[in-house]
Amino acid sequence: MSDLNGQTIVIIGGSSGIGFAVATQALRSRASHVIMASSSSQKVDNALKRLDALIRQSGLIAHVTGKVLDMKDSNQIRAFFSEIGQLDHLVITSGDPPILGPFKTLDLDQARGSFDTRFWGAAVAAQSAQLKKGGSIVLTVGTVIKKPEPGWALVTGQAGATDSLTRGLAVDLAPIRVNIIAPGYVNTELWDTVPQDAREKMLQEAADKLPVKHVASADEIAEAYLFCMKCGFIAGETLHVNGGQT
Ligand SMILES: NC(=O)c1ccc[n+]([C@@H]2O[C@H](COP(=O)([O-])OP(=O)(O)OC[C@H]3O[C@@H](n4cnc5c(N)ncnc54)[C@H](OP(=O)(O)O)[C@@H]3O)[C@@H](O)[C@H]2O)c1
Repeated sequence: MSDLNGQTIVIIGGSSGIGFAVATQALRSRASHVIMASSSSQKVDNALKRLDALIRQSGLIAHVTGKVLDMKDSNQIRAFFSEIGQLDHLVITSGDPPILGPFKTLDLDQARGSFDTRFWGAAVAAQSAQLKKGGSIVLTVGTVIKKPEPGWALVTGQAGATDSLTRGLAVDLAPIRVNIIAPGYVNTELWDTVPQDAREKMLQEAADKLPVKHVASADEIAEAYLFCMKCGFIAGETLHVNGGQT
């Protein structure tokens, strides 16, 4: 089996949820350097402490660096990659809360911002990252690209653009491999803004409708990112990891 022995993995959005789970699994797959970034210094510091503790407790030979980076800011993204130099794999899981609601009443000017973070942020990062031979990029969308819920029209448009970007990049950046993960419901900090009772009800209802009868843990989704990094024969693909939702 291949692993990430000695490799440098950059995870933008690595301070919580799916990105944090990718960071822990990359370390367990023997990555030598994990660089984790997100926009809040407090969240980055906190994640750094948890990952350092994992390295100590598991006796891993690796180190972790945390950096503050706002994916809305193209200049920050360019400076970030220029500072870190060469890397093996770039994972992007960052995403601000989606702008949802009945399409006719959505504030479209406000909603433009999510394209900055999620579409343009990914494009600028893919252009700036200095990936080594054999390297890859793994982006993130959601099940919405196949099965939008009412009120998700704009998110669906943005996610579809990022999904298509993946295939374009897989051609333009070849032989660097570019893939994208479309998770279904995942129990992460993303849902922390929903009050606890409502959150539990929502996730339970989602679980009941799924063939697998549970919503995903961040670790279950992280497996797909690890696969895309390790498997040298996957390129330009969207991996749907949604418990059978679609
Ligand atoms: N959880 C689900 O059910 C689910 C389902 C389908 C798709 N997804 C997608 O999967 C991705 C990861 O979700 P998650 O559940 O892991 O959410 P999460 O726990 O909230 O993680 C999101 C990460 O993105 C970072 N982030 C947010 N805005 C950023 C910005 N402007 N610049 C840089 N980093 C930023 C956050 O840190 P800071 O706050 O420090 O910036 C955090 O590290 C998201 O794109 C989400 O839309 C999630």
